[in-house]
Amino acid sequence: MPTLLVSFGTRPEAIKMAPVVLELHRRGLFRVVTCLTGQHREMLDQVITAFALPVDHDLNVMREAQSLTHITTAVLQGFERLLEAESPDMVLVHGDTTTTFATALAAFYRQIPVAHVEAGLRTDTLYNPYPEEANRRLTDRLAEILWAPTGAARDALLAEGVAPENILVTGNTVIDALLATAGGSAPAFDSRVDEALSRPGPKVLVTVHRRESWGVPMQSIARAIKHACADLPQATFVFPIHLNPVVRETFRGILGEVPGVVFTEPLPYQPFVHLMKAVDLIITDSGGIQEEGPTLGKPVLVMRDTTERPEGISAGTARLVGTDSETIRRAIVELLTDETVYRSMATAINPYGDGHASKRIADHLEHHFGLRDLPAEAFVPEMPELR
Ligand code: UD1
Ligand code: UDP
Repeated sequence: MPTLLVSFGTRPEAIKMAPVVLELHRRGLFRVVTCLTGQHREMLDQVITAFALPVDHDLNVMREAQSLTHITTAVLQGFERLLEAESPDMVLVHGDTTTTFATALAAFYRQIPVAHVEAGLRTDTLYNPYPEEANRRLTDRLAEILWAPTGAARDALLAEGVAPENILVTGNTVIDALLATAGGSAPAFDSRVDEALSRPGPKVLVTVHRRESWGVPMQSIARAIKHACADLPQATFVFPIHLNPVVRETFRGILGEVPGVVFTEPLPYQPFVHLMKAVDLIITDSGGIQEEGPTLGKPVLVMRDTTERPEGISAGTARLVGTDSETIRRAIVELLTDETVYRSMATAINPYGDGHASKRIADHLEHHFGLRDLPAEAFVPEMPELR
């Protein structure tokens, strides 16, 4: 039985790898070994619990306010020892984090094939997002199998010279995770979220964490929210704040005393998904939330200068608003006061996936290892212009 070593280290990687790990376990055709790098701790553990994910190894590398060099070197060293111990036939990595790149590099050094889930997303701007654009490009160069979530990601890989037979368009596994979680009634929220949702007036969900926004851009985002609260005294901004100390200091400093803003700790996945369903608007710099918003029919304002996820924007559910304070404030106020503008963005559409991405990945792996005759079928989005 071939051995697959699946690595992940942060919250979004775990959410997006969970459906793949669970599908492979269910089929039972591979020995599946999971390794947490522990680049995140509490936020990663929340996902492990939510999906009851089996964990075989934990490198536990996280340090307070860690540097990129610390993550890279600690993961490289820890993962090398694990590769020696487990001798996998293939290493599966996800996305664009430093865990992704460092585990792929460690596998490459030992000449073990790498398969990359969520390959090919590009902004074509090396420092935006930083360091993710570089992490994803470097990982794609090292990978032998590239699972592109969308047609645009496939096209970017083809333009870079990747052989078409090494690419499969799968849809994004985050939609598998989302659809498995979003059904049914809302779970018990924590008391702060409950209190926020019980207030009258529109609700806005906020998340921000990107490294390229540290400093002036992040302060500008915080001021935009403060000014929008002044314009819309009835609105409530619910902000499950990332555990990164840089992020917490910035937002608590500027928004700590603003009555319209309710901070919470990072929420477990299930309550977070139901919170997305409950709000009117999402403002974020998150990659994963840009993908989830359209499926839930929630308008998403993307507070970044670039995005590697253009499909939500083409579909009309997401809008790129940058980090300028005034632009963000105006966009929030317009959406919450102009019914026509709001309706034009609040349409449920699935440009990123149909909930079957992990099945396609498992089919593809079985075909690759000679365990299945038929090749895996590609994801085809409903919108023709996104194919
Ligand atoms: C990381 C990824 C980013 C991803 C994001 C998802 C890199 C370089 N960055 O950014 O691509 O979008 O995760 O959230 O790979 N911390 C905790 N507990 C946690 C998590 C973080 O205390 O569970 C604190 C620690 O002080 C840590 C700091 O946050 O040092 C930064 O974590 P890190 O993983 O380096 O960066 P993120 O900003 O979380
Ligand atoms: N998320 C969560 N709890 C939170 C905030 C986000 O479960 O409090 C989920 C969200 O639904 C999405 C993922 O975490 O699936 C996004 O993670 P993050 O924004 O940290 O990283 P990114 O996607 O930007 O890499």
